[in-house]
Amino acid sequence: MKAFVYQAVGKKALEERPKPKISAPTDAIVKIVKTTICGTDLRILKGDVPTCQPGRVLGHEGVGIIDEVGSAVAAYKAGDRVLISCISACGKCVYCRKLMYSHCTTGGWILGNTIDGTQAEFVRIPYADTSLYPILTGADEDALVMLSDILPTGFECGVLNGKIQPGGTVAIVGAGPIGLAALLTSQFYSPSEIIMIDLDSNRLDVAKRFGATDCVNSDDGKAVDKILKMTGGRGVDTVIEAVGIPATFELCEKLVAPGGRIANIGVHGVKVDLHLENLWDRNITIATRLVDASSTPMLLNLLRVGKIEPKLLITHHFPLTHILEAYETFAEAARTHALKVIIEA
Ligand SMILES: NC(=O)c1ccc[n+]([C@@H]2O[C@H](COP(=O)([O-])OP(=O)(O)OC[C@H]3O[C@@H](n4cnc5c(N)ncnc54)[C@H](O)[C@@H]3O)[C@@H](O)[C@H]2O)c1
Ligand SMILES: [Zn+2]
Ligand SMILES: [Zn+2]
Repeated sequence: MKAFVYQAVGKKALEERPKPKISAPTDAIVKIVKTTICGTDLRILKGDVPTCQPGRVLGHEGVGIIDEVGSAVAAYKAGDRVLISCISACGKCVYCRKLMYSHCTTGGWILGNTIDGTQAEFVRIPYADTSLYPILTGADEDALVMLSDILPTGFECGVLNGKIQPGGTVAIVGAGPIGLAALLTSQFYSPSEIIMIDLDSNRLDVAKRFGATDCVNSDDGKAVDKILKMTGGRGVDTVIEAVGIPATFELCEKLVAPGGRIANIGVHGVKVDLHLENLWDRNITIATRLVDASSTPMLLNLLRVGKIEPKLLITHHFPLTHILEAYETFAEAARTHALKVIIEA
């Protein structure tokens, strides 16, 4: 089969690989129909994710058709169409029982990280019963791919951890696919203002179309002044960090209102300063989270009745044979205006 492989730092290729086999009774082999590329895949290719070693087939998102199931799989049979979660969950360990699937002691984020992933013609899915979701006939499978990772991530790490309230104010730093997913799902709670902050004016235009009430381009260094002015000097109740660098986390520290919350989504590779000298008396809370994908059933319901339109995030389509071009397009988003690219196997 064809599979996209991280070969070495900065080196990647579409290789011919053997089709995966069932290795535990709880496994399923899924024939990939559609997959996509995540910002995290770009970080792997740069060598920033040490758990993911060269030789790995990348990808942790997608939809497909069950090809074969292990003897202990009860919920699926060959031919069933399924949504693949970016998080594999055994369903039984102490963290799974707390719905903290990301910390599953034998699962979590392993797909396209410590085991081969979805950017291939076939993938082995461990714990198939508790890591896949059935797809209803006629469902829009492009939109469904957005539910493997980015919608649960924006919602759980940003919106739920940020405790957005009706009438509350929200600022989201970073208008990439994850920040935009937080923007879409924050609207479930009817906040009064959602301010998007980014350096890329094209992405801010997209944010405006997705329901942002205000957009601030922070490249002039005046974002804090502008947002304090917009909020009567109070700052913002929920500040969501969706970039993953020190400058943007520190911006969140300056924007949070007394009593507010900073919900960090970004994957941070280096240390960040926590300005407790300014924050100790402001009654704030800082929350962090790795996506658990425990909200997927709820998001599937909202998608089914048309209450979310994750398809808005899709800008490009490529066949699997053109995946190198898809990576180039996705990596050069400022030039190509790419958000999510769908890859069809
Ligand atoms: N916590 C989790 O479970 C989880 C899951 C998936 C992704 N992530 C992380 O979420 C973050 C966002 O992911 P993404 O795919 O949307 O990334 P992305 O790189 O596509 O988007 C980041 C956005 O931030 C903007 N940006 C960069 N520097 C900025 C600055 N100084 N000020 C303002 N804006 C700036 C960029 O223009 C871009 O639009 C990443 O760190 C990713 O690794 C976390
Ligand atoms: Zn991802
Ligand atoms: Zn578990």
